[in-house]
Amino acid sequence: MSEPVQTPQIPVNAAFKPRIFSGIQPSGGLTLGNYLGALKRFVQKQDEGIETIYCMVDMHAITTWQDPAKLRHATREGAAAFIAAGIDPARSILFNQSQVSAHVELGWIFNCVARMGWMSRMTQFKDKAGKNSENVSLGLYAYPALMAADILTYHATMVPVGEDQKQHLELTRDIAIKFNNDYGVAFFPVVDPLIEGAATRVMSLRDGTKKMSKSDPSDQSRINLTDDADMIAAKIRKSKTDSDPLPETLDGLKDRPEARNLVNIYAALADMSPDQVVTQFAGAQFGTFKPALVDLSVAKLGPITAEMIRLMKDPAEIDRILGTGADRADAIARPIVDQVYEITGMIRSRR
Ligand code: AMP
Ligand code: TRP
Repeated sequence: MSEPVQTPQIPVNAAFKPRIFSGIQPSGGLTLGNYLGALKRFVQKQDEGIETIYCMVDMHAITTWQDPAKLRHATREGAAAFIAAGIDPARSILFNQSQVSAHVELGWIFNCVARMGWMSRMTQFKDKAGKNSENVSLGLYAYPALMAADILTYHATMVPVGEDQKQHLELTRDIAIKFNNDYGVAFFPVVDPLIEGAATRVMSLRDGTKKMSKSDPSDQSRINLTDDADMIAAKIRKSKTDSDPLPETLDGLKDRPEARNLVNIYAALADMSPDQVVTQFAGAQFGTFKPALVDLSVAKLGPITAEMIRLMKDPAEIDRILGTGADRADAIARPIVDQVYEITGMIRSRR
């Protein structure tokens, strides 16, 4: 059977109400990069009054090996970080992905919509697979199709993420458009990535050209949301910089990635623009700027860490919150996936 020919794109977006979805993998503890690039902005979106759905994507996490006990812990700790950062489980929907089967059901259908060529261009896959591409899981390759399903099973229209997820969201758009065209429907919205703010790409404290990541072998490269004040201070004090003072304008940071990174972190934590930070610290040495950054980081992250520790003392309560969130998520996702079965020609006759 031949595949559908490309028909003109069907316009859809006006039909959907604004709804936000985003997810974080419980493949380790959360970092300052996750906080500034994702969590902090998730809270802002909730507080703007938009409908927000947030998810610990445990099914994505197992695309690389996860020890079961650690996965369970990281899922709860991630949920605790969401709440400690300001996500209110009454106003936002907060849950873990595996409790809502619509994600994997739609994920399979999207595996049949996405093309091998599209997947092969994904830079995150190429980075993670490296020279080992014959030996990584099939799930790691299909990862972005499941991510598209996460978003589209809620008909979400906006997705706040860090810069590294931009390509995956373009793929999500391509999958929505191809599904709509193949089946001749205006069913899925074409999502808008929300990649905003001063810290859409927080870099490693050891190497200003590498992303700060929970999977970096060096713990010195990142600030974890579980680090205490002394650890934060030591990591910032030892972070790599050059020996010049801070310049008068942002232009002067063009070829100074480590300095630029610390300025961006300061700006994002203080709700300032990087321009304002450079103006405030023009001419200052790192001997002055780093202690100011330590103070700010401890002031902003300390209360979040303390609240996470408090919440983690009652894991049953976290599980209850995730369960309630999953029920609410399922109520939105189920009818959408049922319509997808109808559109794709699957018989659903069980009583
Ligand atoms: P992950 O930890 O890969 O599941 O990422 C969860 C969210 O945090 C995504 O929106 C990422 O784009 C964001 N994120 C992860 N690391 C960083 C970073 N170093 N800087 C900014 N955002 C990040
Ligand atoms: N791929 C994202 C990351 O690693 C996590 C993720 C999974 C996600 N599903 C999502 C983000 C849906 C936004 C929307 O950062």
